[in-house]
Amino acid sequence: MLVLGIESSCDETAASVVEDARSVRASVVSSQHEIHEEYGGVVPELASRAHAERITGVVTKAIRDAGCKLTDLDAIAVGHRPGLIGALLVGVSAAKALSWSLGVPLIGVDHVRAHLWAGLLDTTLSLDDVYPALGLVVSGGHTAMFACASPAELTRLGGTIDDAVGEAYDKAAAILGLGHPGGPLVDALASSAEAEERAVDFPVSRMGKTSLDLSFSGLKTSLLYQVRGVPGPGGKFPHDKGELTDRRRRDLCASFQRAASRAIVLKLERALEAMETRPMTLLVGGGVSANSRIRRELTDLAERQGLRLVLPAMQYCVDNAAMIAGLGHHNLMQGESDDLTLRASPSMA
Ligand code: KG4
Ligand code: ZN
Repeated sequence: MLVLGIESSCDETAASVVEDARSVRASVVSSQHEIHEEYGGVVPELASRAHAERITGVVTKAIRDAGCKLTDLDAIAVGHRPGLIGALLVGVSAAKALSWSLGVPLIGVDHVRAHLWAGLLDTTLSLDDVYPALGLVVSGGHTAMFACASPAELTRLGGTIDDAVGEAYDKAAAILGLGHPGGPLVDALASSAEAEERAVDFPVSRMGKTSLDLSFSGLKTSLLYQVRGVPGPGGKFPHDKGELTDRRRRDLCASFQRAASRAIVLKLERALEAMETRPMTLLVGGGVSANSRIRRELTDLAERQGLRLVLPAMQYCVDNAAMIAGLGHHNLMQGESDDLTLRASPSMA
């Protein structure tokens, strides 16, 4: 069974053809980073326009790369929440048009849940060996932990009360004068052995003894003060903070990365203690799951805790439509589908 997935929730226009929920026949991602770079973040109206311009070409390429025809498709899945409303509407409208004209089912898929399907793509792991799972979504828009009884049954255990971790990475990169999106750039600079050795301890917010929530604003402020000095009266930064050398930039990236990873591992350990049902798996997804340090630390954590670790392949960490098609197929098999009244929504259900 072939499902076409469409994703347009933020700044990636993506389409993918997935066979039997797991096997990716084609995955096309057209990223808009070059459009948003000069603003240091995603500009919603520009994102919507770029999706509208690109969606037909992206879908056409996915069908061609998959070596199939539109009429071979058995269903259309689309990320319909959460995300930027204007951006989501482009994908949802395209999916409705295809579903109606081809006479095949339409399935609205939750983007955050789909990130937790990404690790199952191109694997043959049985769902019975995965669930119950502790799910961790770490992306530019979301940072949260879930008790996952199944791909659809998620109970939120905790999450960020301010910035998502990817957003904090992007802001850290802006403070350090790097490009956008900053996560991969900070990761690359942080990753030399010397920088890791010279890393200083930035604060890891614990939010009370048992809290499962996270906060990244203190970490971001610590980095800002390291770079620009502590502001004096009237909020003015000192003038004589000195030049930000490449070496210092690398050390600060390593320090930031270490604190961000520690915060996440700490909360996962607490979540494991708090969960009523012991999970079999640590299931991870979202752009920041591409981070080299977090991948290493999650590998260690899973080993210590005797859990199976399911991490997405690198190309399925950031936003993509294969995860939408895969989870869409699964949901369809569970008897779920939508009609043309499907609505885009900026928030999770
Ligand atoms: O999942 P995603 O594509 O979009 C959302 O659903 O939000 O995640 C994008 C985020 C960006 O903030 C980006 O900087 C971050 O993921 N990211 C990384 C890495 N690769 C992408 N953060 C840290 N290290 C990386 N290697
Ligand atoms: Zn995402």
